[in-house]
Amino acid sequence: MPRSVRLVPMALACVLVLAPTACTGSGSGAGVRGTSGGAGLHDPYFPQAGNGGYDVSHYALTLAYDSHTLTGTATIAARATADLSSFHLDFKGMTVESLTVGGRNARWSRSGQELTVRPPSVLRKGGTFETTVRYSGAPGAITDPDGSEEGWLRTADGAVALGEPVGSMVWFPGNNHPSDKATYDIAITVPKGLQAVSNGELRAETTNTAGTRTTYRWRTAQPMATYLATVAIGHYDITRTTAGNGLPVYTAVDPQEAAASRKALARIPEIMEWEEYNFGPYPFSSTGAIVDRRGDAGYALETQNRPFFPGAPDTALLVHELAHQWFGDSVTPKTWRDMWLNEGFATYAEWLWSEDHGGDTAQESFDALYDGTYFDDPSESEAVWAFPPARPSSAAHISDSPVYERGAMVLHKIRRTVGDSRFYDIVQGWAAAHRHGNADTADFTAYVERMAPGKDFGGIWRDWLYGNGKPAHA
Ligand code: TRP
Ligand code: ZN
Repeated sequence: MPRSVRLVPMALACVLVLAPTACTGSGSGAGVRGTSGGAGLHDPYFPQAGNGGYDVSHYALTLAYDSHTLTGTATIAARATADLSSFHLDFKGMTVESLTVGGRNARWSRSGQELTVRPPSVLRKGGTFETTVRYSGAPGAITDPDGSEEGWLRTADGAVALGEPVGSMVWFPGNNHPSDKATYDIAITVPKGLQAVSNGELRAETTNTAGTRTTYRWRTAQPMATYLATVAIGHYDITRTTAGNGLPVYTAVDPQEAAASRKALARIPEIMEWEEYNFGPYPFSSTGAIVDRRGDAGYALETQNRPFFPGAPDTALLVHELAHQWFGDSVTPKTWRDMWLNEGFATYAEWLWSEDHGGDTAQESFDALYDGTYFDDPSESEAVWAFPPARPSSAAHISDSPVYERGAMVLHKIRRTVGDSRFYDIVQGWAAAHRHGNADTADFTAYVERMAPGKDFGGIWRDWLYGNGKPAHA
């Protein structure tokens, strides 16, 4: 048993560890009466996502892939935040082969996406424990409330895992909510000839003695939300370069997209430099991109370190997904209600890039949205006003234009109120204040007010951030 695991022997616990009042509980035996950690973290949009009673610090995932089947071992290091007689993991589909806590077999049961674990003895609040789940099967896709597909998505020559908002639970068990970030070691073994790409840095690539399989070991040393974890399996053209300060750039591109991607991907160092200048120090230890082919539901995702693109990206999309590394990946929303803190910033980054590179100014983008000329389709122009950025109308709408474009408009209103110099201080200060952490809209408005004493943001918050309908004044 790892030393960090504190499984409390029932009889000893009362004497040595617990306050006397805690020893009076009934239950199956004398001793500690823990509670159930509980399913779900009461996210306003995805109430089942995540679990109570513990905080994960590290995921070690060892995966073997072969013809759409996955065999996995997940070792999850966590700290209990309550005395736990049981706790939940989110895990959907696939077959659980065995489960141990602290090296001892644990009882478990499944219902929907909830994997309920009963450790052999109560886990004490504040103690760390390690859960190991061995599993296998064919991971599937999840259809989101907005109709998009996420989870484990097959490609012509492999698969890609995309997890926003809840898809990671189809390929590994965990605490599937953005509020619980952790570091990761992801090892993926694939049949020789295929490649496996993930987040963080590639630590080793080894082929077995028979020469039939290759293992890629990736490490993510900075905290990552489950929705940003990815693996991409297939044939890729790999490029390894460096950006400013020696930052490693690793790109993996489907050969069929290579020609069309080359020009934009070559600008990654330049985009990173521009984003560091505007947003402050890059929060991670490598960058890059994954480009694969997904003809159907094609969307990009800001998978940590290495955003995913469903086909050759253009510069604006690269700017958007790389901006998410600061806004979303490093400063992560506390709940899915705070999506605009991701998408408003990433969209505003596109506007700023355009402004700095001879395209439309941010003011012009703002005006076009306000005047209804930004989109060709009038119904898209109307949709910008469908709900306030900070209060999406339902889970089906968390990636609609009020979150993206109107979110960017909120940032532009702040810029207009405080001026450019103070605005960039706010942008960089915000990224620094919550680096590798979580934040919500109330944190943001409080931060802006603190950074600009004497300025009145009441109208912006009321009309632009929380208000229904189109604000009366631009
Ligand atoms: N976050 C992605 C982007 O901005 C878009 C996206 C993909 C998304 N899947 C999602 C947003 C699911 C919300 C929910 O590029
Ligand atoms: Zn985005």
